[in-house]
Amino acid sequence: MATTPSRRQALAAAAVLLCTTAGTAACASPGGGSGASPSSAGRTVPSGATAPQPTATGSLPPGAGAPGIGDPDFPTDGNGGYDVARYHLALGYDPATRHLSGTAAIHAKATQELTRFNLDLSGFTVGRVTVDGRAARFERSGTELTVIPDRPLADRSDFTVEVAYAGEPKPVTGSSNLGTYGFIPTRDGAFVTCEPNGAKTWFPGNDHPADKALFAFEITVPEGITALANGELTGEPVTRGGKTTYSWREDHPMVTYLATMTLGRFTLREGRTASGIRNLAAVDPRFRGSLDKLHTLSGKITDHWATVFGPYPFSSTGGVVDDFSAGYALENQTKPMYGGFSPGEGIIAHELAHQWFGNSLSIKRWKDLWLNEGFATYAEWLWEEHQGDATAEQTFRLHYAAPAGDPIWAYAPGRARADDLFNDSVYTRGGMTLHALRRKIGDADFFELLKTWNREHRYGYVTTEEFTALAEKVSGEELDALFDAWLFQERKPAA
Ligand code: TRP
Ligand code: ZN
Repeated sequence: MATTPSRRQALAAAAVLLCTTAGTAACASPGGGSGASPSSAGRTVPSGATAPQPTATGSLPPGAGAPGIGDPDFPTDGNGGYDVARYHLALGYDPATRHLSGTAAIHAKATQELTRFNLDLSGFTVGRVTVDGRAARFERSGTELTVIPDRPLADRSDFTVEVAYAGEPKPVTGSSNLGTYGFIPTRDGAFVTCEPNGAKTWFPGNDHPADKALFAFEITVPEGITALANGELTGEPVTRGGKTTYSWREDHPMVTYLATMTLGRFTLREGRTASGIRNLAAVDPRFRGSLDKLHTLSGKITDHWATVFGPYPFSSTGGVVDDFSAGYALENQTKPMYGGFSPGEGIIAHELAHQWFGNSLSIKRWKDLWLNEGFATYAEWLWEEHQGDATAEQTFRLHYAAPAGDPIWAYAPGRARADDLFNDSVYTRGGMTLHALRRKIGDADFFELLKTWNREHRYGYVTTEEFTALAEKVSGEELDALFDAWLFQERKPAA
């Protein structure tokens, strides 16, 4: 199978979403003023990467961090002037009142002198902001929270900004694309899936994949509710006065859209994969019958991908099925989430492949999304091939049979469009690109490339240019024409 109907449906809907979210503030942002500070200053640009484009954010006061991280397609997503090292989120939520409150402590390093800097936060009332323990002034505009420390932060200095906030979280809605994403209240808790820029619906931060950080979560919920977050529990949950606090931490770099605090009544199954990786499956009681299958398949597939892509990058694997009928899944780090359906092998293979492609190796710019979705889609085809079902070649042919007028050929997956980011082409034509490459360079070089790609960029950032350069290096072949036809032309590539 290529994709499950549920995911395809979500993907078909994916087009309008980005303009809704980025649109309000971002699309309306003033043209690139000459005073804009280099928003990516100080960020590591891996060799071979293209230089970041300046952010179109207008002129800024001296010493101000840019209100965008420098992704030209999403000008106000993320922020400039600092690099987050660690988030510590201490949050309470009550499903009955839908009230979220707490503090976010953000440990960061300045990448320029900062008289002010921005965080992304959507909604909520901000109570108090401190920088290194001293009260700071702040301003709000749209989803930008501007923090003005009482004294400027020196370039390269480490600092901690703490934000106390409260309110009813509001997910991003109204996209005919992915429907609803971000912090989504449910009957018994919340379903929290944030790609591409919905982390700001529940915590302040640098909401763009180009700034990974470590995460610690202390989540307090009414007794009887389970709080699931990324990584591992650091101890037994503590119950006091009718409330339980769960402490989780993810000690590997993680992008903001992969963070989750999914809450509700869950049945859990814990264990280890055959190779010894911790494995946790959790299901809403409505999906009690799926628990064992989810646990077993997640373990088996994680172990298999480790033999194909290289060592599993994180400390645990697993999956969560909640009863929110999102109709989609998200590859939340260590805990993929399936929204309202019992996942089959294809989608589990897809979300677990993302632990390598997207989560360990993350994109710096959304136009490179095929590096996540094309690879995860190709992984679905590889899984079928491994199972002795359709070969990847057969699946490729099936998709290649789409007539020249099919919309998939008019959309160049190598430069995903902000207004139609999750277009089917990014998935399917992205996967076909990898198969075309495999045909050209042969299995030995192709699978060595997948491993080398992972080894060289583990926990880091990647670009399309780096991938095509590595493919040429590993194979010793000239591949410009192949990648150009498959990734960048708005027409069907020749066979
Ligand atoms: N990355 C998801 C998938 O594999 C799709 C997706 C995009 C998504 N944005 C989302 C899922 C938001 C949940 C929420 O294929
Ligand atoms: Zn995906």
